[in-house]
Amino acid sequence: MRWRQRWLGWSIGAIALGLSSCTTAEPPTLSDNTIPLGAAFAQTGNASLYGQESAQGAQVAVAFFNAQGELKDYTLRLVLQDTGSDEAGAVNAFQTLINRDRVVGIIGPTLSQQAFSADPIAEQAGVPVVAASNTARGIPQLGAFISRVSAGVEVVAPTAIDAALVINPNIRRVAVFFAQDDAFSRSETDIFQQAIRSKPNLELITVQQTQTTDTNFQAQINATLSLNPDLIVISGLAADGGNLIRQLRELGYQGVILGGNGVNTVNVFPVCRRLCNGVLVAQAYNPENPAPMNLKFRDAFEAQYRQLPSQFSAQAFTAVQVFAQSLSKLSQQQELGQLSLAELRQALNQQLLQDTYDTPLGELRFTPEGEVVQRYFYVGQIEMSEDGQTGQFRLVRQVERQP
Ligand code: ALA
Repeated sequence: MRWRQRWLGWSIGAIALGLSSCTTAEPPTLSDNTIPLGAAFAQTGNASLYGQESAQGAQVAVAFFNAQGELKDYTLRLVLQDTGSDEAGAVNAFQTLINRDRVVGIIGPTLSQQAFSADPIAEQAGVPVVAASNTARGIPQLGAFISRVSAGVEVVAPTAIDAALVINPNIRRVAVFFAQDDAFSRSETDIFQQAIRSKPNLELITVQQTQTTDTNFQAQINATLSLNPDLIVISGLAADGGNLIRQLRELGYQGVILGGNGVNTVNVFPVCRRLCNGVLVAQAYNPENPAPMNLKFRDAFEAQYRQLPSQFSAQAFTAVQVFAQSLSKLSQQQELGQLSLAELRQALNQQLLQDTYDTPLGELRFTPEGEVVQRYFYVGQIEMSEDGQTGQFRLVRQVERQP
């Protein structure tokens, strides 16, 4: 009896072992010499005004680096998941990319507001994330696997206040609007307000709060215009920011408008049309940047989309470049397919933080924490066609930031 029990025990043990080794057997890290790279961008909802530009930039980049044989024996494959425009959508997209699509790394998500929920999931899973549009403070600090190529509000915003003063030295009275339900807009307005307070000639006359879902700003605009501002500074996202610009002009404001990084997309043009004209915009990328990689990127982008790229496309291209060049370096040191997926993700994260890259944004690298170190920033001015159908960001100022 005891023998029978023991035999039964061994058999069950052996079967369990067999089953467990079946269920835990990992699929190959890379199949068909294809490297899946995740992109989590908003393709639906308000933030798709950014996410669609990002997806275009990333797609151009993958085709570009594959055509140039960056990865020799391997082909990069972009796996795009729609994050929608809220936190839950971003969390879902990250989980799908990490567990089902088994990507080596993720570019995204679109909004900082989404990143604060989704990035901790990648961090815990040990998957490198390179943010391509998150500009709120605190993004690289979310973890060792989180970095960004999208320069933060603290470096982009102050430049733009200086530019407004160069364009109109008579500015004294400044009003500020910000979308209080959005992490990036809250972060950016803090920086704008500090920059305004630091200028002895400027007076901050009012701070108005809006929501990214607002479509009517009449009450805040009337309250502000009664105070006679010379400059209105807006931190919001593209749709609400564009509507606010339009309504400020419709209600008679003729002074200078400075839009934060949230309106740095050609997708605001159909929202404010002719009334976007003259708005100053803080930029981490301007298509007129003469960097050699920018010229190649512009050519590739224009060939496909028949228009100049804007910041979100350039930053997404750059994020793909960071992954492509790091994978290429890694593959020179070891056979990528021999690593487990977890080892490859870990090695890739270490590699990408070490390198310097010549990108469409100019030369850039990362701090050990994953914060981007970028040299040039820009202020653009929106120039619309007479009929308000097309527009561009004319470069009015380039600022070099000392490392
Ligand atoms: N720059 C914006 C953000 O960080 C899109 O949310």
